[in-house]
Amino acid sequence: MSEKELEQVSEAEIAVHWQEEEVLYPSAQFIAQANMTDADIYERFSLENFPQCFKEYADLLSWYQYWQTTLDTSDAPSWKWFVGGKINACYNCVDRHLPKYKNKAAILYVPEPEHEPHLALTYQELYVRVNELAVLLRDFAGLKAGDRVTLHMPMVPELPITMLACARLGIIHSEVYGGFSGTACGERIADSGSRVLITIDGYYRSGKLLDHKENADIAVKVAEEQGQTVEKVLVWRRYPGKYVSDTPMLEGRDHFMDVVLGDYVGKRIDPLPMRAEDPLFIMYTSGTTGKPKGCLHSTGGYLAYVTGTSKYVQDIHPEDVYWCMADIGWITGHSYIVYGPLALAATSVMYEGVPTYPDAGRAWRIAERLDVNIFHTAPTTIRMLRKAGPDEPQKYSYQFKHMTTVGEPIEPAVWRWYYDVVGKGRAVIVDTWWQTENGGFLCSTLPALKPMKPGSAGPGVPGIHPVIYDEDGNEIDPGIGKAGNICIRNPWPGAFQTIWGDRERFISTYYEKYCKDKKSTDWRDWPYFAGDAAVQAEDGYFRILGRVDDVINVAGHRLGTKELESACLTVLEVAEASVVPLADELKGRVPDIYVSLKPGYEPSRELQGKIVEAIEVSIGKIARPKHVYIVPDMPKTRSGKIMRRVLAAISNRSDIGDVTTLANAEVVEEVRRMVQGDG
Ligand code: WT7
Repeated sequence: MSEKELEQVSEAEIAVHWQEEEVLYPSAQFIAQANMTDADIYERFSLENFPQCFKEYADLLSWYQYWQTTLDTSDAPSWKWFVGGKINACYNCVDRHLPKYKNKAAILYVPEPEHEPHLALTYQELYVRVNELAVLLRDFAGLKAGDRVTLHMPMVPELPITMLACARLGIIHSEVYGGFSGTACGERIADSGSRVLITIDGYYRSGKLLDHKENADIAVKVAEEQGQTVEKVLVWRRYPGKYVSDTPMLEGRDHFMDVVLGDYVGKRIDPLPMRAEDPLFIMYTSGTTGKPKGCLHSTGGYLAYVTGTSKYVQDIHPEDVYWCMADIGWITGHSYIVYGPLALAATSVMYEGVPTYPDAGRAWRIAERLDVNIFHTAPTTIRMLRKAGPDEPQKYSYQFKHMTTVGEPIEPAVWRWYYDVVGKGRAVIVDTWWQTENGGFLCSTLPALKPMKPGSAGPGVPGIHPVIYDEDGNEIDPGIGKAGNICIRNPWPGAFQTIWGDRERFISTYYEKYCKDKKSTDWRDWPYFAGDAAVQAEDGYFRILGRVDDVINVAGHRLGTKELESACLTVLEVAEASVVPLADELKGRVPDIYVSLKPGYEPSRELQGKIVEAIEVSIGKIARPKHVYIVPDMPKTRSGKIMRRVLAAISNRSDIGDVTTLANAEVVEEVRRMVQGDG
């Protein structure tokens, strides 16, 4: 093995390769009501008809000024869609529905405590609240189009209200997942250059009312250290009028949103017509280096793409009750709880808490009570629900017509439980593969047109033309069972515009690898490199194996191993740290941590605890490792690189391979015994 190979390990390399499965077909009943039953759609969206085909998605929206250029490639690979067009995302998600749907629920909010009443926010009510807040953002917070504002909010209705209020004025929102630590939030505030932070005092998680305001104080401090002053912290209250946090409000800086809003009752403000290519939001995600990447999404292209895919892949009709259990703090929630469904005038369900709280039946009780008919979640959650209550779904009388899985590969056994038990054998399933960078689905079946295949995401969705390349850029043919790097041949409207403040990294991470000519403005020269390994079957369906880089997908949350390693290195005693993916029955993958100590320090339980705590402080509880191994030394190559691949093989009890060329081969056996025991 070469040094480089020894040094690296990726999810894809520990992936389980399951067997090809038989396909299943949607019911006639589903097909009869589906939004897309016209098989010609694949022809209409073929490469020959690219890029004009995406007009079909743009025409689902209302434009102030219709666009002239479908795709402008002059600033490759920052593709600009629907150029010349003027549009507002908030108008499309709220105002335009009022004539027909003002009295219909836009959002059905389910608090975690079961005794608290549900909240039905009609389109009219959403309109009023978004308007009042937008005026506040302008007049009280001093925000205007193009400014960034960081949101650090959990699953409360005020989150989509805040996003839409920003969108109404062209303010770029950057929502940081509520479970991220104050430190992680502060870094994102600094990177995006936000002067205002919008947060909440507390929220429920597993029956506990968490103090969230304390994170705001940490975030502001961390941002300040990184050169970004936060002038205002706007604090929503979980119970308006009653402060549930123990963290004091800072006079002059912190303001209760419900109090300030008192001055804006009845205020209205027209949506601001934005250029199609103007940014709508930033969503941070993890990459190979420790620094998170701010994916910048556009207004017109993004909204057209999520609306089109919500309509045809999610099969959302205005009369459906659609429940996506993701968190709005991730891209799935942005695209498929807020923007896509609301652009279609759907009723979108939001649940505050943990799907198995207070018991394994909770999710299904919610589905029954609200009569949900479209359900959307991640394999991790499906595994968790199955483990907690394999027979629970049948106790409730809901009936889904459609179910989605997203975020990780789903193994056929889990897929079958989802299909047979959760879907009661009558709901179609779509397995949707995509990424934060992509805005919306890349691979999935169209539910009324293509059969389902357990464990496979399916072909590219209309207008997406995936290809698998080997390391040298040769195409790997379908059906030969060989894995490679999945790429997309063509641009699409949902694709991010750049990494905020780092165009170099945008190009080098996603486009450089297979770019045919860096000076070219022809999109054919710029395949998009997704960073996932995949295999394509004879029938054209793609099976995604996992990341090929230093990213670990933990329970559907994307974490960079470098971020975890830097967190470990904040512990005084730690000399070196290495993080590897460990296959996990419930979460897909979990991080396993290996550290060595500086001279003069001894391993101890306390120290292990300190390392876990450091990770929670830097990133959040979602990054908590499975094990922390304090090893006498790290296995290293002769040039001193830590061999993560060897550590991963030890963690996963797989073949360690030949390690005789190492600088310290004896350490490998020592570490192996420590992890696996003797034998
Ligand atoms: C990574 C992206 C936007 C979706 C939520 C996660 C993995 C995503 C699938 C799927 C197998 C999947 C990939 C991808 N992934 N969907 N259906 N089957 N793997 O977004 O946090 O940006 O993570 O999630 O590895 O690269 P994300």
